Amino acid sequence: MTARYALIGHPVAHSLSPRIHAAFGEQCGIPLRYELIDVPPEGFAAAVAAFEREGGEGLNITLPHKAAARALCATLSARARRCGAVNTLIRGAGGWHGDNTDGTGLVHDLTERHRLDLRARKVLLLGAGGAAHGVAPALLDAGIDSLWIVNRTPERADALSDRLGEPGRVHTRYWKDLPELGVFDMVVNATSAGRGSDRMDLPSSLVSARTLAVDLSYGEAAIAFLSWARAQGCETVLDGLGMLVEQAAEAFRLWHGQRPDTDPVYAELRARGPALHSAE
Ligand code: ATR
Repeated sequence: MTARYALIGHPVAHSLSPRIHAAFGEQCGIPLRYELIDVPPEGFAAAVAAFEREGGEGLNITLPHKAAARALCATLSARARRCGAVNTLIRGAGGWHGDNTDGTGLVHDLTERHRLDLRARKVLLLGAGGAAHGVAPALLDAGIDSLWIVNRTPERADALSDRLGEPGRVHTRYWKDLPELGVFDMVVNATSAGRGSDRMDLPSSLVSARTLAVDLSYGEAAIAFLSWARAQGCETVLDGLGMLVEQAAEAFRLWHGQRPDTDPVYAELRARGPALHSAE
């Protein structure tokens, strides 16, 4: 029987994950089925249990289920524990094993595909939700100098900072203090502001031409932040499409024991242009 995998979220209709995993499977000669399961929060645990009963081998988790997924894991990887968020479930003998591939995916995209050196950078992380939790530990591990977390709701920035446990390198500031923080070497937009109608008001003093600007979303959701960065003169401006493909490759490796070549899949998705739907 063909092994079954799925993405669970709400909504998930526009997800690129089935296409990405199908391409990886074909490339590696691994037959698989990758489905989309759209379920609201109240149905999440039952949907996972049904998938498990039916023999499902692995799951990707997206909004709004990342915290609930963590709660139903029998075991967690060290990086999932550090992130406090789970985006990949692997079926094990004793239940689901939870992992998080977002941070590895982001760092892989920046350092391998785009050949960027993250070491010694002063980094601003905008947002303190699931996406920010997923990438923060990997950014620290990549050798950045310092991480400045700014979130509209300051308590969530403090909670993320406490979780990271590196008071010498991780700092939180209020949104209203953004104009006083100086220039950053890298600004990461991990907010979901681009998916809604609200505009983020960011001072131009945060960036210079040499600042790397990264939005963890792609498609329409990334347009507002990346247009702002280009308008400020940032020379390197990247969306989250590469991260999406790389986090999928890392999930594929966890499930199948092989890391696929991501370049052809990335190139095919990129060729489809900016008409891609938001993040997952
Ligand atoms: P995700 O998994 O995409 O991170 P999330 O956990 O709901 O989704 O987090 C959304 C993040 O975007 C939060 O940091 C949120 O800020 P709050 O914690 O204050 O809600 C941030 N966000 C959403 N809309 C925003 C806006 N218009 N301006 C600034 N931050 C925004």
